[in-house]
Amino acid sequence: MAGVLFFRNISKHDGLRQHKQTDALLVHSAIIQAEPLWLFGGEKNLMRPFCLKFLAVLFGLMGTVTGALAEPPPAYEGRRLFVSYCQLCHGKMGKGDGPLAKQMGISPADLNTTVRSRSDTILKKIITGEGPQTITGRDRHNILSDAMPEWVNVFKEPQVEALIAYLRFLSTSKHPLMGDPEVGYKLYNTYCAVCHGEEGEGDGVMTKMIKISPADHSNANEMNPLSNDDLIYSILHGKSQFMPAWDDILRPAEVEALVSYIRLLSN
Ligand code: HEC
Ligand code: HEC
Repeated sequence: MAGVLFFRNISKHDGLRQHKQTDALLVHSAIIQAEPLWLFGGEKNLMRPFCLKFLAVLFGLMGTVTGALAEPPPAYEGRRLFVSYCQLCHGKMGKGDGPLAKQMGISPADLNTTVRSRSDTILKKIITGEGPQTITGRDRHNILSDAMPEWVNVFKEPQVEALIAYLRFLSTSKHPLMGDPEVGYKLYNTYCAVCHGEEGEGDGVMTKMIKISPADHSNANEMNPLSNDDLIYSILHGKSQFMPAWDDILRPAEVEALVSYIRLLSN
């Protein structure tokens, strides 16, 4: 019964009144009217795995009609840039062991430890090469070595800030990125944003239709105490009544990708 009510509410919801969405909603209602009790008659969880497949299609459809993907967080963009421009020397985890560093016989700093004590202003100077290059804690009279390229003409200000956000993530996060966040970003928008919100704040469109308050994935205080394994477990098996179990729909690599994206959201 709750299911029928729930979907009636969808058609009343202002945010979904727009023209293009009507067709998709008609399709949804047709599916739902045919199988209302299957969807919501489960004794344990609102969404049984095979019904979840219906919902997955439904949410995917919603994602398509609502248009462009949400803006990803700065640390996400910073990671993309880091992979393309910095990893070569600094290594995947920023430890200074990238393939080009070996080739050049240089040893870049371990960003995991050095970045922590540096202000954003100093990091910006180090990355762009603009301004005085005196940085404490290094040999060679505290002058940054020429082996660190100057990126002033390569990046615009928001990109430098994104890089700094990712360096902060690298140097503070206790939870390593275990999958590909770029895959996670797309999956999150397709399957999770409907409840968790486009920016992970727990304010997705569904929260206005049913009484749920999903975890706030952008809140570091809430997310940091949870290990990667905790997150994987919740995603695979669901949590309490309304967090669905995705083990039937998502492959292990996709779940890991989602966990990585959630980590960058809460940075
Ligand atoms: C060609 C190799 C190379 C590339 C590519 C490179 N770096 Fe560096 N980087 C270095 C070296 C070598 C140092 C150490 C310089 C020193 O100790 O004087 C360094 C130092 C740094 C430092 C200072 C670390 C500290 O002491 O706090 C930061 C921050 C940094 N790099 C960020 C970046 C970022 C961000 C990128 C990508 C946009 C990048 N680097 C790309 C070689 C590189
Ligand atoms: C139907 C709404 C809904 C959808 C869709 C949904 N979630 Fe959730 N999720 C919830 C709710 C509600 C909670 C909070 C459950 C609780 O704390 O009891 C939750 C909790 C979680 C948690 C656990 C965090 C914690 O506090 O332990 C994770 C991780 C999570 N969701 C990830 C996802 C991912 C990834 C997706 C997409 C693949 C997703 N969720 C899709 C409703 C949803």
